[in-house]
Amino acid sequence: MAKLVINENKKCGRIEPEIYGHFSEHLGRCIYEGLYVGENSDIPNVNGMRTDVVNALKEIKVPVLRWPGGCFADEYHWKDGIGDKSKRKKMINTHWGGVTEDNSFGTHEFMELCRQIGCKTYINGNMGSGTVQEMSEWVEYMTFKGVSPMADLRKENGHEEPWNVDYFGVGNENWGCGGNMTPEFYGNEYRRYQTYIRQYDEKRPVKKVACGANVDDYHWTEGVLRTCFDHVPEQFHGFMDYISLHYYVHPEGWEIKGSATDYDDLAWYKTLNKAYHMEELVSRHSAIIDQFDPEKKIGLSVDEWGTWFTVEPGTNPGFLYQQSTVRDALVAGITLNIFNKHCDRVKMACIAQMVNVLQSVILTDGARMVKTPTWHAFHMFRHHQGADLLQSSITGAQEIGMEEWTVPDLTESVSEKDGIITITVNNLSVTDEKELTVQFAENKTYEVVEASILTSGDVHDKNTFEVPDTVKEEAFAGYRADGKQIVLSIPKASVVMIRVK
Ligand code: AHR
Repeated sequence: MAKLVINENKKCGRIEPEIYGHFSEHLGRCIYEGLYVGENSDIPNVNGMRTDVVNALKEIKVPVLRWPGGCFADEYHWKDGIGDKSKRKKMINTHWGGVTEDNSFGTHEFMELCRQIGCKTYINGNMGSGTVQEMSEWVEYMTFKGVSPMADLRKENGHEEPWNVDYFGVGNENWGCGGNMTPEFYGNEYRRYQTYIRQYDEKRPVKKVACGANVDDYHWTEGVLRTCFDHVPEQFHGFMDYISLHYYVHPEGWEIKGSATDYDDLAWYKTLNKAYHMEELVSRHSAIIDQFDPEKKIGLSVDEWGTWFTVEPGTNPGFLYQQSTVRDALVAGITLNIFNKHCDRVKMACIAQMVNVLQSVILTDGARMVKTPTWHAFHMFRHHQGADLLQSSITGAQEIGMEEWTVPDLTESVSEKDGIITITVNNLSVTDEKELTVQFAENKTYEVVEASILTSGDVHDKNTFEVPDTVKEEAFAGYRADGKQIVLSIPKASVVMIRVK
């Protein structure tokens, strides 16, 4: 029988809350309709932000939000999105459906959204088609307190005080949609652009994020870091706080992708096998970063991750709208456990995307809203935010799956905060219940204070606008605890969270 051994005396680092971050792009119905409906909408809103959506996001304690893209970021000119809305320049969203972008959601609106959610701000700048001056002025506009052309413009536009920009991305996917650069070219451009991201408030520095690799492009990570760390002058310290990684799960590959809701057991294991591949990606990219930054000052920011399926039938292919099932909950559970266990290097991550796009936590249809299974997974995992990772391992786990698409049957991570230990375990089997004995190193008595499970009768189950609560977190009673150990009976295809003290 499988055994989970927890060494509560061995703390392995802080799980940064930002690992539970989100991404929102001007893509499909993510920003418009999903988050922002405008002040004059019949849908209840505060300053244009949907009240139902904001409340649901607060429940999962969203720590940080990345915006405005994605590929959109390297075509976005921030000055088009400020000032009188009726006069804002319209543009074509060439990447995503060729629709007209009216720029009614811009910098002020994003900052207002983050204020309402109560999260940190992660702005992604335009290196692909923007200038150093444009990027530099955006930072000045947002963060400078005194008298200056950009600070004065912000004040004219109604915001006297500067905002906090917690993270600033220097370009997005510059190996592809962000300019088709080589790692060396990007590395040199990064050096130049980041120089002009000025720190106007030393107490609240803007942390800089370099564009990292696509999937397993280790050559990119190595090339960017080698270029950036070559001949580093003294004043360069603090010139890079994060480097990113983007990875999406397409069960049938990039071209075909695969259905979000109609899958057999083989597609189940393909999907989970590909989700579990995150373990190798994070390990190998981290090993490269270690060569340049052995003190682990630079965080790995997995700022785009999640499932990417074929769009929902009948929807605009450029809008990337997909449903979300029990399988997505497992992808989230697998991935978040991996991030927790690599918290020495993974310091931030943003699921793609927040609402109505790819593996969303929320779907909307007019005034209606549903929380997806992924929302429930984030709700269960929220206790890990800011906690100390505890050393833990499972012995006796089995490798399961079909054909070459195998995965361990059980994955886990364990953390402690305020004297409470949170254990999150996934049963990846699509057919079998699993038993797991949880043991602690310390000879103490532990009592279960909370236990919940996320699963459903049918592994294809999803939440719809008509029936919104089919897949949800529910109280879990499938355990026996005698104070020294806990024996869990974990149903097939489920995410379990158990808290002890
Ligand atoms: O999230 C959708 C797209 O995926 C983003 O715009 C881009 O960065 C990535 O390729």
